[in-house]
Amino acid sequence: MTQVPLPPPAATRDAPPCFVLDGQNVPFQPGETLIQAAHHAGHFIPHLCWSPEFAAHGSCRICTVKVNGRASAACTTLAAPGQTVENKTGELNAQRKTLLQMLFVEGNHFCPSCEKSGNCKLQATAYEVGMEGPHFEEFYPDRPVDASHPELLLDFNRCIVCELCVRASREVDHKNVFAIGGHGIGTHLLVNSPSGKLADTSMASGDHAAAVCPVGVILHKRQGFSVPIGERRYDAAPISETAQDDTP
Ligand code: SF4
Ligand code: FES
Repeated sequence: MTQVPLPPPAATRDAPPCFVLDGQNVPFQPGETLIQAAHHAGHFIPHLCWSPEFAAHGSCRICTVKVNGRASAACTTLAAPGQTVENKTGELNAQRKTLLQMLFVEGNHFCPSCEKSGNCKLQATAYEVGMEGPHFEEFYPDRPVDASHPELLLDFNRCIVCELCVRASREVDHKNVFAIGGHGIGTHLLVNSPSGKLADTSMASGDHAAAVCPVGVILHKRQGFSVPIGERRYDAAPISETAQDDTP
């Protein structure tokens, strides 16, 4: 008589698939990327241009991990069973530190004078991977600020071209205030108005695009130091311990 195979026990049948991240099983839903699944499971993979709110942009490469020995961006790589993912390694953090050092010299990042110091993801990620100095020669680009808007200030000196404000303005605020222009080393943030000034857009201080910048580019006027240095987000705990608070 032919034996009919029994279905697997419920726990096995219903268990989500997993990949292994730094030796720990991480469950994922089909269609999730490595960084989404890791974030949902409470693991931190360093990142700058990714946010749980938006689709991946894949430009900063800070999230690079090794998947079965091959370098891959965790924000654009789909999770799959059988993946062995390395994230917290000395080699990967050294590569991240080099990328961060390049970002720091490409703009003008004078942390002690920046209102975003202590709340800045670039600064916090640099601390996370042990960056102690710029290493490369500074570019000192000439990037005038835009103080035309009554409520908001744009300090382009600190822009890391992550496109988070572009996506927030387009997808959440439905305004399309920002864009990215130029190529290569000349890639830069643009304001979508005939004058190129923020005052000539429909941007409002309550817009999501005004809150999403991970560094100190989009700042609210007349709110400087409302939270004193020493009491800011990454003063209290490193970014690897606070990233879970990021929405959604
Ligand atoms: S202004 Fe801020 S959010 Fe917008 S691209 Fe530059 S760093 Fe990213
Ligand atoms: S966070 Fe993945 S490339 Fe920027």
